[in-house]
This record gives sequence, structure tokens and C-alpha cells, in this order.
Amino acid sequence: MENTLKIFILYSMVMATLLTHTHARNTISMPTETTLPEEEYFKNLIINPLGEEKFTKLHFYIHDFVHGENQSVYNVAESSITTDSGALFGRVQVVDHLITAGPELDSEKVGRVQGIHVMADLHEAALGANWNFLFNDGSTITVLGRLVAFAKEGELTIVGGTGEYLMARGIAFKRTLVMDPDTWNSIMEYTMYVYSSKPMGLPIV
Ligand SMILES: *[C@@H]1O[C@H](CO)[C@@H](O)[C@H](O)[C@H]1NC(C)=O
Repeated sequence: MENTLKIFILYSMVMATLLTHTHARNTISMPTETTLPEEEYFKNLIINPLGEEKFTKLHFYIHDFVHGENQSVYNVAESSITTDSGALFGRVQVVDHLITAGPELDSEKVGRVQGIHVMADLHEAALGANWNFLFNDGSTITVLGRLVAFAKEGELTIVGGTGEYLMARGIAFKRTLVMDPDTWNSIMEYTMYVYSSKPMGLPIV
């Protein structure tokens, strides 16, 4: 009897906390905004019902240039089998790609994606990435994950952030919009669903 009462009180407290909590749902609108089928799911996902969280959807394009005057990816190191392995295993690359609001190179500049990745699959050309997305206001979103190099689509894990995206967690969907078969230069479309804490409201240094 006493245990039943304790459980009931605990249950009431948890429910009261859940019901009184309100979520801030902010959406950053950018040009060429589209509503994707997964949007509702991620908007309503509750990761931490007891904390104050901010939801942000980000949509932008990355200019991934392997060759030419705006080259934005460079080789750093290779393994002893990189050239013989069909999967370029062990190649380490560093990137600093331009991020724009629209797919055109001259559309509004939104930020840069900077970091390293390594070809880390013995059987197919797939990479393990460690990238920081740096936005114009100095906020960052850090992404880790695996992408198949020539796959049209991929997903990356958002593991943290700063500024507007303090304590970020979420998911980034990548879609290859165009890839030049001669140069491998490509434009990647990204959609990010980000949960973060309320920003501290301090100036970003
Ligand atoms: C390189 O970038 C500049 C500035 O965005 C652009 O005007 C130029 O067309 C680009 N060149 C190539 C080959 O994409």
C-alpha cells in the first residue's frame, strides 16, 4: 500500500513537470525551403522533457570542390594501401567548403564547413567525418559520422554546438545535388534538425 502511494506521488510529479513544460520551436527560414516528410517527426521529438530546448531546422548548400580555382578539399596523408585499395582506404583529407543559402555559388554566403575526414572503409569508398559547420554569426555545429563518398544521400550525427546552437544534438541529412563526373566537384544539399539549449545570451567572441 505504502509503495503504491509512493509510486503514485512520483508519477504525479513527473506528469506535472511534463505538462507544464513548454518547448521553444524556432525555425530559421532560408530560401528554397521545402517541407520534407521527416520534418514533423523531428519537430515533435522530445529528447529532454525536463530541460528548456530550442528546435532549429537549417537548410543550405555546400560547395565541395575537388579541383579548380576554388578547390576546398586537400589530401593530408595516405595509408600503405590507399592507392591499391578500391576504397581509397586511409586517405585523410582536410576541407574548408563554402556554405550558401541557395544552390548557386553566388547565392548568399551562410558559412563554412571545416574539418577532417578519413576514408575508413576497406570495402567501399566511405568516409568518417569530423566537421565543424561555422555560421556567419560565429555559431558552430559539430558533426561526426559516416558518408558513402558517391552515394546520393547520407546522414550525419550532430554531436554539439556553440553560440546559437549551445549543447546541440540532432541529425544532418545530406543529398548530392550535382556532381561533375570529370572533376568530382559537387554541390551538396544539407538539412539539419537541431535541438540545442537556450543560448546564454552572451556575445560570441
Ligand atoms: C570560384 O569562386 C568565385 C567566387 O565565388 C566564382 O566567381 C568563380 O566562378 C568560381 N570559379 C569556379 C571555377 O567555380
